[in-house]
Amino acid sequence: MASQQPSHLLQLDESTRRLLWDHLKEIIERYQNDVDNHRVTPLLEPSKIRAALSALDFKKSIDPLQAVDFIASQLWENQVHTPHARYYGLFNPAPTTMGIAGDMLAAAFNPQLAAWSHSPFAVEAEQHLIRSFGHLFGYPQSETDGTFTSGGAEANHTALLTALVNSFPALGTSGVQSLPKQPVFYVSAESHHSFLKAASISGIGKESVRIVPVDNQLKINIDILQNTITADRKNGFAPFLLVGTAGTTSAGVIDPLEHLVRIAKEEELWFHVDAAWGGGAVFVTELRYLLNGCSSADSITFDAHKWLSVPMGAGIYLTRHRDILEKTFHISTSYMPRDAEGLTVIDPYHHSIQWSRRFIGLKVLLSLMVAGWDGYAESIRNMIRLGDQLRKSLVRSGWKLVNDSPLPVVCFVDASSPDIIIPEKVVQNIILRGNTWISSVVLGGSTQAIRACITNYRTADKDITALVEELNTVREIVRRG
Ligand SMILES: Cc1ncc(COP(=O)(O)O)c(C=O)c1O
Repeated sequence: MASQQPSHLLQLDESTRRLLWDHLKEIIERYQNDVDNHRVTPLLEPSKIRAALSALDFKKSIDPLQAVDFIASQLWENQVHTPHARYYGLFNPAPTTMGIAGDMLAAAFNPQLAAWSHSPFAVEAEQHLIRSFGHLFGYPQSETDGTFTSGGAEANHTALLTALVNSFPALGTSGVQSLPKQPVFYVSAESHHSFLKAASISGIGKESVRIVPVDNQLKINIDILQNTITADRKNGFAPFLLVGTAGTTSAGVIDPLEHLVRIAKEEELWFHVDAAWGGGAVFVTELRYLLNGCSSADSITFDAHKWLSVPMGAGIYLTRHRDILEKTFHISTSYMPRDAEGLTVIDPYHHSIQWSRRFIGLKVLLSLMVAGWDGYAESIRNMIRLGDQLRKSLVRSGWKLVNDSPLPVVCFVDASSPDIIIPEKVVQNIILRGNTWISSVVLGGSTQAIRACITNYRTADKDITALVEELNTVREIVRRG
């Protein structure tokens, strides 16, 4: 009998593979068709999950179909179903069909995007997308550069690093101890907390982050911002970066970007726009004005795994400084491929935080090839319409809106008895019941509210009705105690 290759359990034989692909197809198709009939939220039972995992015996090989069935059944029961039409969540959408296909192809072909010569098509495709998105945000094609990232946090981290290198070119070589003054940068109190993390891991420390209070519309307070910059300079700090948010996580608020552009120019600060979610507005002609100012930003974060609905993770960092990524991330090694030397191409490992990298852009490329700009515009427009419908319906049912956003993030409290109908209690009840997922937020540091965001292109009018009915039912339950 011929002995089996030692790899036969790594690459399974053709007939098993065909069975497995068919089986996976069934699992994925069932999920697409049935997810809306399932609870949105899981029952949180860590001991049950750990027991199921502990029962796995890695000394024995298990049938591949059984293995994927185990995973699928665990995922069915143990996740918040973000692709569910009644998930009103944190910008995690239902993945596009083509995005799922893209992730499958990327896994199977496994192109390595560290060096251009290993994956010329993949690197060029990502660069083409970067230029296309840059153009959409108003960057001239000839000036646009950027990189795909794991998500918005890595894109914001990249922005912080490039802004630092722009102001302190010796930083990469000599480190933070060589800086003549303590660098400081400015974000609003409603900005994403990835900036604090980035400050901490970049070595400049969280104390370098000036968290500027917001005004009564939850936008960065311009007067306080100006005063803080002035005081910082007077006190011997080195301001280097100003961040504007286009679509805050809690309330979908857009900072006054054009005003921030002017301040950044006057103060010679790098201006970064975190448009991780709100950047989706550039797809809709009549909403593009909301992002006026982005074209003058030094860099922009835009997350394809938010409003472009591709599977996680797919973030994008864009910049109009063509040399800054190389200045920040260039490294020389003898072992990396040099097959493309002499060609005018970019090696992504010189150009970003990551080294080995997945073809992140593929799921974006395929989704865009099929949906097109117009397909996305239509879907985003519909979500905006549903947001307006939700607002009207909430007000009719005695809820009070507490945020003002052109985007479909709706924050609200009970209008008549806010001291009894505490947002946290409503949200806890709703999550336990499992029919929908919403969250609670604290706005401007003091207003507790319920937050519902239409972030899923599958959400329809009937789901908005169901959400408001669920909220009204739970309000009665909370009222009765
Ligand atoms: C405004 C904003 N910026 C950045 C991020 C971080 O993005 P990611 O979770 O993709 O890293 C988020 C996440 O929701 C966000 O809302």
